[in-house]
Amino acid sequence: MPILQIEQTKCIQCGACAAVCPIAAITIGESGPKEEANIEFCIHCGHCVAVCPNAALDNQESTLKNQVKIQKELSWDAEQASQFLRSRRSIRNYRPEQVPKEKLLQLLDVARFAPTGGNSQGISFRVISGQENLHKLTAATLDWLRQEAGFGNTDRFIQAFNEGKDPILRNAPHLIVALCCREFAEIGRSNAAFSLAYAELFAPTIGLGTCWAGFLQHCAFSGYAPLLGALNLPADLTVAGALMVGYPLFRYHRLVDRNPLKVSWNE
Ligand SMILES: Cc1cc2nc3c(=O)[nH]c(=O)nc-3n(C[C@H](O)[C@H](O)[C@H](O)COP(=O)(O)O)c2cc1C
Repeated sequence: MPILQIEQTKCIQCGACAAVCPIAAITIGESGPKEEANIEFCIHCGHCVAVCPNAALDNQESTLKNQVKIQKELSWDAEQASQFLRSRRSIRNYRPEQVPKEKLLQLLDVARFAPTGGNSQGISFRVISGQENLHKLTAATLDWLRQEAGFGNTDRFIQAFNEGKDPILRNAPHLIVALCCREFAEIGRSNAAFSLAYAELFAPTIGLGTCWAGFLQHCAFSGYAPLLGALNLPADLTVAGALMVGYPLFRYHRLVDRNPLKVSWNE
């Protein structure tokens, strides 16, 4: 059963589908594109379909009908794109209200379009809400910081927590934990970083703010049992990343500066 369907009357034999295939499973023969035996290793990336200028090619593993036409009028110029990227901020002050599930789903639905190694797409998400649940995670992370990590600022963190502040999860109303298969944890963490970065960048466009939960992430990566117990994950899944989310309390008015660019060239 062939995986590719080609409408010969539409195909202009430009060869783009063959050139972009990451596993070189398409060749251009006399009558146009042809799938090779290694098409069975197709990673379902959809490139062959998306690059075709004439919608002449379909791939049953990544179908034309599920692809969305790119609208040129929605594209940004470099200045707009730069301001968008630079205006992302780590949000550490949140309004107390919960974010509706539909909005959280809208946020995570963008995160699933991030790149993944081999197009594996193995990231899922667990959303943890409610002050009691979140404070349990903060308490476990603080215990880990004090007992195991040798982190220098622990006393101040614990004092702040005892005063009702949350130095780990910043009293955010939700924590998004990205999960991946235990077996592929290393690539899963890279995949999760991209997914959560997509969520972080998209968040302000729907009125949300986010911040990486780096301390909690380290604690989870170390395998600290009290934290993992509180997360109550299925046995085959592990933490690949974590992001706080909620409505930001403040609005930023300027773009911050960073260290000067450092580049070296080998020519
Ligand atoms: C992997 C990673 C982990 C982080 N962990 C934390 C964290 O645990 N708590 C926190 O308040 N900020 C955390 N941050 C946010 C950084 O402190 C922040 O990105 C940096 O100060 C620059 O600020 P900006 O994100 O607003 O540009 C983390 C960022 C990254 C990329």
